[in-house]
Amino acid sequence: MTDQLKIGIILGSTRQGRVSTQVGQWAKEFADQRQDAHYEIVDIADYDLPFVGTTDGNEPGLMKWADKINELDAFVFVVAEYNHSITGALKNALDSAPQTAWHNKAAGIMSYGSTGGARAAEHLRGILGELMVADVRVHPTFSLFTDFENFSTFKPAALHAENMTALLDQVNTWGHALSTVRALPVNA
Ligand SMILES: Cc1cc2nc3c(=O)[nH]c(=O)nc-3n(C[C@H](O)[C@H](O)[C@H](O)COP(=O)(O)O)c2cc1C
Repeated sequence: MTDQLKIGIILGSTRQGRVSTQVGQWAKEFADQRQDAHYEIVDIADYDLPFVGTTDGNEPGLMKWADKINELDAFVFVVAEYNHSITGALKNALDSAPQTAWHNKAAGIMSYGSTGGARAAEHLRGILGELMVADVRVHPTFSLFTDFENFSTFKPAALHAENMTALLDQVNTWGHALSTVRALPVNA
């Protein structure tokens, strides 16, 4: 049996009053029941990331962010849809770690919005391709109308459990496979 993966559940929004904290917490509790990996919430807001390229690059938050992405084997992105795309905060965070910290790792995407955040998730897939992150097919989409009370309290419908299970199955499978790729002499 291979060691358990370290999987970061990345909160994709940072605004005051955001719901990503609730969605991420739900995802972590769901995932922890499986006992198949070490799941942790990674909150971009904790890193005080400057806008990419506007500083000398020596901020402690930037180094801490690079270390965190380096140490993770796989990701679950909790994606909010802003103007039909991902948030500026998530894009900045993706741009702010060294590209090689993302390379040859697996990811799953869960998203929310008026149409389940689908448009944002599709944008994220293009970005992950450039970062050599392998994003799995299954994509739980949560509706602001039916999976939230008053658009603010996360109450996901029971039907999402099946998709979440499939997402985590795929992230673990691809995560283990890609850890062998990272260990190849050419990548080590
Ligand atoms: C700047 C902004 C733009 C938004 N644009 C969209 C959008 O294009 N499509 C959509 O479904 N929801 C949109 N919304 C609604 C968000 O999906 C909703 O507010 C959600 O709760 C945001 O996630 P957060 O609470 O984690 O920040 C937008 C919200 C904000 C703040």
